[in-house]
This record gives sequence, structure tokens and C-alpha cells, in this order.
Amino acid sequence: SDSDPLQDFCVGDLKASPSINGFPCKSAVSASDFFFSGLGAPLNTTNANGVAVSPANVLTFPGLNTLGLSMNNVEFAPGGVNPPHSHPRATEAGVVIEGSVFVGFLTTNNTLFSKVIHAGEMFVVPRGLVHFQWNVGKGKARLITAFNNQLPGSAVLPSSLFGSNPTIPNPVLTKTFRTDDVTVNKLKSMFAV
Ligand code: GLV
Ligand code: MN
Repeated sequence: SDSDPLQDFCVGDLKASPSINGFPCKSAVSASDFFFSGLGAPLNTTNANGVAVSPANVLTFPGLNTLGLSMNNVEFAPGGVNPPHSHPRATEAGVVIEGSVFVGFLTTNNTLFSKVIHAGEMFVVPRGLVHFQWNVGKGKARLITAFNNQLPGSAVLPSSLFGSNPTIPNPVLTKTFRTDDVTVNKLKSMFAV
């Protein structure tokens, strides 16, 4: 969780610059600051990964400012994959709302802990560890995830490694992956932003 709040709430004023720990408090607050409808809308999963994420974090739901939590709606096409990523600032808990999902995370010793879980079942990913999900059911799948940080951040491995701006020099990547420029350039072209 984030640092303890010093007042009932501090709805984020997104027009102000964020300071060291979140946004300054908005002065006029109303009920609508504490409600958010953005997690229910069906998402378009027609993309290369077959996955789409809509976040309810301090940037989309400023009422979360200083409260130390946030959530995501994650939808999968059949076979869709939420690619390996990590959240530097949060532990993640998730619940399957629909479908059957292969959920896995990796320890820092590279042990993979994984399980196929179904609607109503829950998982946890300890803070910072690399994890992924894969829709192994016949139809679509959906998860709701929750984080103990108002803005957990997400380092998505494939885009960090091959889609950065500027890109990581090829010798770093060919050595790292024991491969050649052709392979690295192909991956870079697929993740270019
Ligand atoms: C799933 O891993 C998510 O970050 O919402
Ligand atoms: Mn995650």
C-alpha cells in the first residue's frame, strides 16, 4: 500500500503537476469523484495479443489519489495472452470473472508458479514479479485485478526490450538472447512504437 493518508480523502487534481507522492488535492469535491464506470465496458480484443486492459488508477479515477489501491479490467479473446510484465509498485490480486485462464508468475530464482483457474477463482502476484495470463478456454475470458498502489506501473517485457524509444543497441540484444541482428531487427520491427 502507499503511505498512510493524513485526511479522509484527497481527490487528485490532475491539472496540477504531481508532486513526490501523487497529485495535490482538488478543492471542490462531489459524490461523482468517488465513483467510476470504466471497468464494465466491453473492450476490443482484436489486436496482436488478443487482450485489452482498462485501468481504474489515479489517472482515470482521481478519487483513488493517496488511497493506495487501483484496479484493472482485463479481457481476452480466445487464445489471448497478457504478455509477461511486472508492476514495480504493487502486489496484484486478481479474480476470474469469465472463462478459464492460465495464470503464472516467476520468482527471482526463475521458478514458474502457475495454474489454470476459472470464474470465481483468485490469484496473487507478489510485488514486482514477472507474470502473464493466457486464455485457455474456448470462449472469451475476463479478469478483474487489484493493486495496492494508486498507479502500479507496468513494465511489459517485450515492449521494454524491443519497442523502446530510442531502441536498445543491437549488440546488447544479440548477446543477451544469443542470437543475430536479423532476429533482433525482426523483433524490433514488430514492437516499434
Ligand atoms: C494483469 O496482470 C494486470 O496487470 O491487470
Ligand atoms: Mn499484472
